Formats: sequence, structure tokens, C-alpha cells
Amino acid sequence: MQQTLSIIKPDAIEKNVIGEILKHFEKNNLKIVAAKMLHLTKERAEKFYLIHKDKPFYNDLVDFMTSGSILVSVLYGEDAVKKNRDIMGATNPEQADKGTIRKDFATNIEKNAVHGSDSLENAKIEIAFFFKEDEIFIR
Ligand code: CMP
Repeated sequence: MQQTLSIIKPDAIEKNVIGEILKHFEKNNLKIVAAKMLHLTKERAEKFYLIHKDKPFYNDLVDFMTSGSILVSVLYGEDAVKKNRDIMGATNPEQADKGTIRKDFATNIEKNAVHGSDSLENAKIEIAFFFKEDEIFIR
């Protein structure tokens, strides 16, 4: 059993599809064990995506991620990191499989509706970025 971090991004919030996206997780046996809606400051967004600092899309990505609220959640379940990545689909929605979140809700490679941790190691770091220990309860 694993925990992974999910972010529903500003484009999906704007499209009013939070419920539909959460339903994808639930119907695939991922349990939402923590969740909150918040607005990232520029500094926090820059820090979260620091790994992409040298990429040409970094500044645009930070602008986009601060352009509206996001919903962050911790998903829990068997093989949760990979399962969430499968449910999300490819980063570029043009390459995403049918039935994935990005195929259904993403606008383009940047405004791609959701983020999910790409490894168990990063999941731990990203969960700690947004949640305190007492905000996550698993029984
Ligand atoms: P995410 O899974 O949040 O991780 C990094 C984000 O950078 C990614 O989703 C996209 O939103 C964005 N991204 C990745 N590749 C590109 C690209 N080639 N052009 C623009 N944005 C990108």
C-alpha cells in the first residue's frame, strides 16, 4: 500500500470537474485520505516545481499554477503511485489513452488538469510539502 500526491490544477477547477476527477480515483480503488483547496503563491509554486527550473516552460508553468486555486489530495491504495499515473494518462493529452483524466479534461501539455507524484520517493516529499502529519489519517 502506498500514498501519492495528486493536484487538480487551475484549468480543471475552472472547468468545474473536481468531482468527476475525484470519481476517477475512487472508482479505481484509490482512497482520498487528505484533501484541501488552496492558492499557491509564486514562491510556493516555484519551490514545488524547482526540478523544472531550467526548462523553457518553467516560468509559464509557475504562472499557470498560480492563476487559480488548486485541490491537493493524498491518494492511498495498492501501488498508488503508478496507479494514479495510469489513471491520469500521458503528460501531453494528445498522447493520453482513452478514459484517462487528461484525455477527458486536459487542454494542452501545460494545462493538463492534474499532477501526480512520479515515484514513491517524490510522493513522500510532495505530500510533506502540502500536508502536516495530523492532516492525514489512514485506518
Ligand atoms: P506535471 O505532471 O505537473 O509536471 C510538470 C508540469 O510541467 C507538467 O505536468 C505540465 O503541466 C508542464 N509541462 C511538462 N512538459 C511541458 C512542455 N513541454 N511544455 C509546457 N509545459 C510542460
